[in-house]
Amino acid sequence: MYLEKALIIYDTASGNTRIIAERIKKRLEDLGMSVDLFRDKEFKAFTSVGDYQIIALGAPRHGNWPAFTLTRKLKPLLKMDLKGKKLITFASAGGPRHQQICQKIENFIKPTGIIPVTSIGCVGKPTEDFDMVLGAALQEKMFQR
Ligand SMILES: Cc1cc2nc3c(=O)[nH]c(=O)nc-3n(C[C@H](O)[C@H](O)[C@H](O)COP(=O)(O)O)c2cc1C
Repeated sequence: MYLEKALIIYDTASGNTRIIAERIKKRLEDLGMSVDLFRDKEFKAFTSVGDYQIIALGAPRHGNWPAFTLTRKLKPLLKMDLKGKKLITFASAGGPRHQQICQKIENFIKPTGIIPVTSIGCVGKPTEDFDMVLGAALQEKMFQR
């Protein structure tokens, strides 16, 4: 069976979005994928992006936007053709409007042709019921070809 490869890139200031990123990694691995995870400022391998079928991008909410350090770092992606790849967005916010941040990450990267499949939001740090959220948000059928 062909092994799907997923790339996760996240930004964080106080660690909450990192926890989401790590939980997404675990969930995708449980679904049988090979997953590489990077903090945005450590990500340098733009030439390897073509190797991944799934890309997950996440950031904390800063004001009404995803932390600008993520989008600044990922600008080289905008020059790439990501058609056919699947996008997962995720965000942590102090209040309930994390979905808006996922939407803004999606809008940022959409010109590449990537296909949004799901988004995952969280208020602050993920709690014990987060596995249920992940189970619903990341289902095997979304990634079947
Ligand atoms: C500079 C800054 C601005 C923020 N602005 C907002 C905001 O407008 N709305 C909100 O709900 N949370 C806001 N937050 C809270 C963070 O989104 C929230 O604490 C999040 O869980 C942090 O994630 P992190 O631990 O990955 O950095 C802000 C935090 C910082 C540091």
